[in-house]
Amino acid sequence: MTDQIAALTTLIQSRAGTAPVQLGLILGSGLGHLAHAVDGVSIPYADLPGFPHVGVSGHNPNLVIGTLEGTRVAVFGAREHYYENGNPSAMRLPLAVLKALGATALIATNAAGSLRPDIRPGDLMLLNDHINFSGLNPLIGEKTDARFVPMTTAHDPDLRAALRDSAKAVGVALPEGVYAWYSGPSFETPAEIRAIKILGGDAVGMSTVPEVILARFLGLRVAAISTVTNMAAGMSDEQISHEHTKAMAPLGAAKLEQVLRHFLRKSL
Ligand code: HPA
Repeated sequence: MTDQIAALTTLIQSRAGTAPVQLGLILGSGLGHLAHAVDGVSIPYADLPGFPHVGVSGHNPNLVIGTLEGTRVAVFGAREHYYENGNPSAMRLPLAVLKALGATALIATNAAGSLRPDIRPGDLMLLNDHINFSGLNPLIGEKTDARFVPMTTAHDPDLRAALRDSAKAVGVALPEGVYAWYSGPSFETPAEIRAIKILGGDAVGMSTVPEVILARFLGLRVAAISTVTNMAAGMSDEQISHEHTKAMAPLGAAKLEQVLRHFLRKSL
């Protein structure tokens, strides 16, 4: 994979310049438009051999390298989820390339269902920890001892503090909670949601956890924010669907953009 990482890094730098990237940002379902806020170069994943072929609607499969609020960022407009091809390490190559481009930190975003009555559709939640409810791991098959990644402070305390400060500064509520990764693509049953609740989950979604593990493996600091698109199964009468997720994500996206812009301006 080392050669592939080097070749992709050269290719990306030939189009976007060699100035080091400071931060990576992965955009979740319905949040892809944030990539347009970046002043930079957009490279379709299709031009980057080994990058995922993302087929989930509501995602924007381009890598955008450029400046946002004075910070050099690499924005992944789409991710490959485990449920697409059964590959929990699908984002390993893109994240390794991010690291090779110079980044030291990653912010992952996602759409999620809330298990907390005080966190409603349209709200944001900062992940302070996660539960790997899928039992999968993107590092299975990795042969080096680096695979034994400590996860005690996987969700970086300093990044989280900075994001909380930014949320406060722009007047956006940013409660913290535990995100449970469910494989998807079917949504959870009400019984599964009750189980996740008992286990300590505050939100549930189909992504992000493999990326957090990979980021820590690669030595990237990482934080993640959910935009809540629905109450989890059985918690309200509302119908849960992908259409609904895509329709609701923009509600939180505007708040997310405000928080991230402030964070980039002040903290990096
Ligand atoms: N469950 C899993 N993933 C999701 C949900 C949900 O309720 N909402 C948005 N993504």
